[in-house]
Amino acid sequence: MRRSVVVMSMAAIAVAGAWVVSRSGTWARWQQRLALEVSPGALPGELGSRINSWLNQQMYAQVAAELDLQPDDELLDVACGAGAFLAGHAAHVRYAAGLDLSPAKVSLARRRLAGRIAAGTAEVAQGDAGALPWEDDRFSAVTTMDAIGWFPDPARAVTEMHRVLRPGGRAVLQMGFGGTAETQNASLGPMPITILNESDVRRITEAAGFTDVSISYCRTAGDWRIYDRALRLFGWEEMRVVRAVRPVVAVPVEAPASVMPSLVASA
Ligand SMILES: C[S@@+](CC[C@H](N)C(=O)[O-])C[C@H]1O[C@@H](n2cnc3c(N)ncnc32)[C@H](O)[C@@H]1O
Repeated sequence: MRRSVVVMSMAAIAVAGAWVVSRSGTWARWQQRLALEVSPGALPGELGSRINSWLNQQMYAQVAAELDLQPDDELLDVACGAGAFLAGHAAHVRYAAGLDLSPAKVSLARRRLAGRIAAGTAEVAQGDAGALPWEDDRFSAVTTMDAIGWFPDPARAVTEMHRVLRPGGRAVLQMGFGGTAETQNASLGPMPITILNESDVRRITEAAGFTDVSISYCRTAGDWRIYDRALRLFGWEEMRVVRAVRPVVAVPVEAPASVMPSLVASA
C-alpha cells in the first residue's frame, strides 16, 4: 500500500514536471537556461546571465550615461555576455555589435538580438577580447563591463578596442573597483583575476593611444544594502568606469602596448 502511494506520487511528480517543461519550451531551451558552461567570470546558463545583468543594472546605467549613445552610433560591447546592455541601452543605435568568449553566452545574445541581426543592424561574434575580429576604425563607440579582470591580457584588449574605434570615437570601459582600498588585496581570493588599480588603468588606457582619460565611480550594488555589505568584504563596493577618446590625430605613446598591471593573481 505504502509503496504504491510512493510510486504514484513519483509518477504524478514526473508527469507534472514533464508538463511544466513542455509548457515552457523545449528540452534544448532548458539546457540553455541551466547550462553549466565554463567561461571566465560568467555565471552559468541563461539563469546566470539574468542574475548577472540584474546585479549590473547600476553599472549599465552609468556606462550608458557616459557613452551618451546617439542614433548614428555604431557600438561594440566587448565581453557582452548574453547581450543585456546591447538590448537594453543600445536599442536605438545604428549598429550594435557584441563579442564574447563563451559560445553559450553568444547564442543567448544572438537570440536576444535576433530581430536586429535579421535586419542587419546587429551582430554577435564569438572570440577573445585580445583579438577582435573587426577591421580598424569600425566603430564610433566601444565598451566593456564586468569582464576585463578575466581577460588573459587586459592591456592587449584595450589596445584592440582602440584599434577598432575610429578617430574621435569614445570608449567607456568598466575596469576594476574603487571602494575600500585596504581590502583590495584581500579581494583576490582563489580566482585567476587581474585586479587593476587606478594607475594601472590610466597607464593601460594611455599606452593604447587614448586621450582625455577620466575616471568615475558608481555604487556596484546600487540601493541594495545587503549586497553592498557583501561587496565591501571584497573592497568591490564601487565600480570604476573609465571614459577615454581615440584622438583624431594619433598621439605618440611612450610605453609599449602590452603593459601588465601591477597586481596579478593566479589560482
Ligand atoms: C560577468 S560577465 C559580464 C557580461 C556583460 N559584460 C555584463 O556586464 O552583463 C563576464 C563575461 O566576460 C566574458 N569573457 C571572459 N573572458 C573573456 C575574453 N578573454 N574575451 C571575451 N569575453 C570574455 C565571459 O564569457 C562573460 O560573458
